Amino acid sequence: MNSKTVAIMASGRGTNLNVILEAVKAGLCPVDVRLVITDKGDAQALDIARAAGVPNVIHVNPKDYKGREQFDAQCADLLDRHGCQWIVLAGYMRILSSAFVRRFRGRIINIHPSILPAFAGARAVEDALEYGVKASGCTVHLVDEVLDGGAILAQAIVPVFDDDTRDSLHARIQIEEHKIYPATLKRMVEEGFSVEGRRVIWAGK
Ligand code: GRF
Repeated sequence: MNSKTVAIMASGRGTNLNVILEAVKAGLCPVDVRLVITDKGDAQALDIARAAGVPNVIHVNPKDYKGREQFDAQCADLLDRHGCQWIVLAGYMRILSSAFVRRFRGRIINIHPSILPAFAGARAVEDALEYGVKASGCTVHLVDEVLDGGAILAQAIVPVFDDDTRDSLHARIQIEEHKIYPATLKRMVEEGFSVEGRRVIWAGK
């Protein structure tokens, strides 16, 4: 399998998907996006992927499957069929079954809108604001069985201002997401890394 092949899974607006595809097109991110999967039929991610010419853009509808395991097994078969080495979650709003995580261990990455391990979960931006932190940011991490709990590949920090709302803070975080996600993908395929305990050690090539 070509080590630069990537699938992106997204559920929503797809701005991270978009910046990755733009970076690839501009020659700034040397990955081969073979497949985009979404679990939502109306996800903007579908239009973005089609417009960018991704060769396989597929809506897998959870309603067509009995449960999470069967849905994930269908996605996993698609990933293997299209020869995807890396599985990049970009606003993918479903929790992956442990069978899926085991099948692709060390090859699934996610971006999360907080400085992990603070504020894991779906309400990360609201939780950070309510807690009163003065800085937040985003984390690119490997996915394991613990929600937002895998080893950390990259982080970026933003300030939190007194008049921030969820939307204004999230927008500031997304500016950083859009830089570190393509940059981390580039580093992953060009440089590589190993994992020692919880620590990601970049190969330094
Ligand atoms: C991002 O904030 C990401 O951190 C989180 O979901 C959001 C997805 O945004 N996992 P988008 O759909 O890429 O715009």
